[in-house]
Amino acid sequence: MLFVALVLILTSAVSAVDYDWWQTALIYQIYPRSFKDSNGDGIGDLNGITEKLPYLKETGVDAIWLSPIFLSPMYDFGYDIADYREIAQEYGTMEDFHELMKVAKKLGIRVILDFVPNHTSNESDWFIRSVRREPEFQDYYVWADGIPDPDRPDVLRPPSNWVSNFRKSAWEFNKERGQFYLHQFVIGQPDLNYREPRVQEEMKQILRFWLDMGIAGFRVDATNFLFEVDPREFGGRYPDEPKSGVPGSGPDDYEYLNHIYTKNMNESYNVVFEWRDLLDEYTDKHGEYKIMITEAYTEIGQMIRYYGTGKRNGSIPFNFFFLEEINNQSNAWDIKLVVDKWMTYMPSGQTANWVNGNHDKSRLASRLGTDRVDAMNMLALILPGVAITYQGEEIGMTDGFVSWRDSKDPLACNSDAANYRRVSRDPARTPYQWDASAHAGFSSTGDTWLPMADNYRTVNLAAQLVGKTHYTFYKDLAAVRKKPATRYGDLETRALSESILVVTRLLPGSPGIIGIINLSQDNEIVNLSSLRLLPNKMLVVASGTDCLLENGVSLSKAYLPISAHCAVVFETIENCC
Ligand code: GLC
Repeated sequence: MLFVALVLILTSAVSAVDYDWWQTALIYQIYPRSFKDSNGDGIGDLNGITEKLPYLKETGVDAIWLSPIFLSPMYDFGYDIADYREIAQEYGTMEDFHELMKVAKKLGIRVILDFVPNHTSNESDWFIRSVRREPEFQDYYVWADGIPDPDRPDVLRPPSNWVSNFRKSAWEFNKERGQFYLHQFVIGQPDLNYREPRVQEEMKQILRFWLDMGIAGFRVDATNFLFEVDPREFGGRYPDEPKSGVPGSGPDDYEYLNHIYTKNMNESYNVVFEWRDLLDEYTDKHGEYKIMITEAYTEIGQMIRYYGTGKRNGSIPFNFFFLEEINNQSNAWDIKLVVDKWMTYMPSGQTANWVNGNHDKSRLASRLGTDRVDAMNMLALILPGVAITYQGEEIGMTDGFVSWRDSKDPLACNSDAANYRRVSRDPARTPYQWDASAHAGFSSTGDTWLPMADNYRTVNLAAQLVGKTHYTFYKDLAAVRKKPATRYGDLETRALSESILVVTRLLPGSPGIIGIINLSQDNEIVNLSSLRLLPNKMLVVASGTDCLLENGVSLSKAYLPISAHCAVVFETIENCC
């Protein structure tokens, strides 16, 4: 009797559980430099972002993540921070940031900041003091003695063969200190030493500084680079990394080595768990969950460990498999497997996430083709969990053309005129295309920090506000996202053929949500009779640019005409199930 009562209480409690804001959040990534320039210097800024917040609200965005806005010499465009507590002058002032926070709060948009813990700028006060060996800062960075060259004892070789992510040696000699420092990214980004407790404490204070201002959490940069192997295990030296054997790579290329001593060290997980504890303090204090999303490009097993262990809470690790494992040739089976992969590996009870683009990767429309933009936006927005949209993907912006001379990305600049286009991240960072006016409504000057993409006169937000466009489809998807079945419904993915992918979200007592993608060049008739729990009659609620179906049209599940390249979402008229 008691047992039955307990079960009843528990089950009713479970069905009454509502997800917290972050578990189904639509997060919009803003690259501040390229979003909106309010003062005519050709560089986007905080006031520009504030001005455009109402548009993001209207679109249905729940939170914005701002790529770094802090004081920086901009060798890596803000990912090289000189002072974590100051705003970059070209982006505005602390007052501008407070104003942004105020307007965002009024609109109900949460603000997530970019936390860059692996490295600072070489112009940071900490680095300058570490170079001088000031006792407190002496070990803030990864310093090591050079190795005398056996043939020329006056020449010092780097401490190991390690290569930077941005090519060439990861070690840079500092004359004043007489030692090499490690930089896993550009020379101006010295790696902090996480084996120094003061560094760990310092970074926690920075988290507190911004949390105290009411931000909603952090995106954490390059998390799997925080630690290198402990040199004490190797007689005080940093060991060489073995060659990877990747064909075509040379000693200057990052791919040349197998990064067993510089990446994915176990210790980085614990640091993330400690940051989670700190954020949880604020969750309790502010009565609102503080989100943490960590960046680690690695294989799935390593990625999902960031979620936490049985005992420790962790972060949401970015799911980069849409970016890395789907291309313009992927068929419905391939895409289903990529979706299922995350859902399979993700520990039970955790929150999934879907990423279609960011400031480091070629844009969706350029990577997969314009005719797959709607399909991928649809997947990200109707699958369970968090969806993250990089600015411009909602209007299908393409990579811009940036010449060798105009190149700004250090990754491109460390390459050469013949090869820079293969690696440059500039094309995905060209300014946002607001309208067809001069400089795309981004800036009043033609002297923008990166050139506008050539197609801005046709591909821009103003041209997509009405009619059947990438943007109106995206906006409809954002509305569908708020429906109970999209928030809480069970997920099923089915590839009905090589070209037809079906995603269903079914929740007892609510209308079901069904997304269908036709990847082929041909119109197809889709029959969903085999989905027995699915009620028969359904309405079109979001219809992509290549779909002949209009919103509001009612159809039977046994006969759904889906045109070539169409991505479409239906809602059942009756409740499931
Ligand atoms: C991350 C950022 C990238 C940056 C690198 C170094 O991967 O997304 O833009 O260059 O970290 O901070």
